[in-house]
Amino acid sequence: MSNPAAKYEGEPQGGAWRRVCPAEDVAADGLYPFALPLGDLLHAPLLVVRRGDALYALHDECPHRRVKLSERAYLKGDLVVCGWHHWGFHLETGAHMLPTGICVPTYPLALRDGALWALLES
Ligand code: FES
Repeated sequence: MSNPAAKYEGEPQGGAWRRVCPAEDVAADGLYPFALPLGDLLHAPLLVVRRGDALYALHDECPHRRVKLSERAYLKGDLVVCGWHHWGFHLETGAHMLPTGICVPTYPLALRDGALWALLES
């Protein structure tokens, strides 16, 4: 198995890095929804997924009906599956489980000073 931690090693520098939470808040396997402030009124819905040593961040919105993935999502292998109509999206790429061209945006993550950071735009 490759080292999944390598994907979020390093320092958050440049771009629009946002502090998500203390790393200990996402220490157990599971799905963690967040609303990261983008300004006075806007928030970015972010779904962090912990699976073993790996952390992933996806936009917390199902492209089918624009509902929050986190409302009913569950993990199935390498997929996060929307619980409404069971569309699955690859954790790493956000691509739909079928070759539809549909995908959920994903975001790079970094750990710094005991906190998890997400790069929302570059
Ligand atoms: S709303 Fe997500 S699969 Fe239909």
